[in-house]
Amino acid sequence: MARLCFTLVILALALLVSQGESQTCTSQTFENKNVYANCTDLPHLNAYLHWTYNSTDSTLAIAFIAPPPNPEGWVSWSINPESPTMISSQALLAFKNNDNITINTYNVSSYNPAEWGTKLLYDVWDLSAEESNGNIIIFAKWKFPEKIEKVNHVWQVGPGIVEGLPLKHAMNPENKDSKGILQLVGI
Ligand SMILES: *[C@@H]1O[C@H](CO)[C@@H](O)[C@H](O)[C@H]1NC(C)=O
Ligand SMILES: *[C@@H]1O[C@H](CO)[C@@H](O)[C@H](O)[C@H]1NC(C)=O
Ligand SMILES: *[C@@H]1O[C@H](CO)[C@@H](O)[C@H](O)[C@H]1NC(C)=O
Ligand SMILES: *[C@@H]1O[C@H](CO)[C@@H](O)[C@H](O)[C@H]1NC(C)=O
Repeated sequence: MARLCFTLVILALALLVSQGESQTCTSQTFENKNVYANCTDLPHLNAYLHWTYNSTDSTLAIAFIAPPPNPEGWVSWSINPESPTMISSQALLAFKNNDNITINTYNVSSYNPAEWGTKLLYDVWDLSAEESNGNIIIFAKWKFPEKIEKVNHVWQVGPGIVEGLPLKHAMNPENKDSKGILQLVGI
């Protein structure tokens, strides 16, 4: 018994180490064949970000991958010009709608989705989505102010949509910690 436990601990440690060393996102591919220069295994909610930043025209192309907590759930990725928090974030939010994926844009001005505008501070185009192994993937291009070097990003998943509006997400630590700074150009 002691030996079995020991073996299991070693296996678990080996798994942790291998996860720490290799990025999962590098092996991810898309049906639409989009390819990005950079990818990041995000630290929470089993999410991934693929991105290419063109500093000449300050355009960011992204693919964001996350599993909704249930089949009716939503996933979102946003840029916050103020700080890495929910309020003020400029969000892309996707969910399955029959067989299609709908992507909405939200200016997250409060904790009440009914108050949110759909016009974003930034131009966003080429919005599309895919579904893969229980994940929803959002594709988009963003235009940022000139010479921007990093942005605050916030990502999230939630349980569903009611009357067209996203239900609030869980408040587990991984939901609260799903935010960071995306360094667009090398430091
Ligand atoms: C993104 O990828 C490019 C090309 O491989 C590399 O030069 C650059 O340093 C990467 N940027 C970051 C922030 O990792
Ligand atoms: C970056 O944007 C500039 C201006 O639009 C364009 O000429 C250039 O080809 C782009 N670079 C890449 C790598 O796509
Ligand atoms: C899905 O989208 C396609 C193309 O926009 C449309 O033709 C089709 O009716 C939609 N299907 C559903 C189930 O909404
Ligand atoms: C987003 O909402 C805030 C607060 O209501 C408002 O001040 C701002 O103008 C809105 N942004 C856009 C792009 O509409």
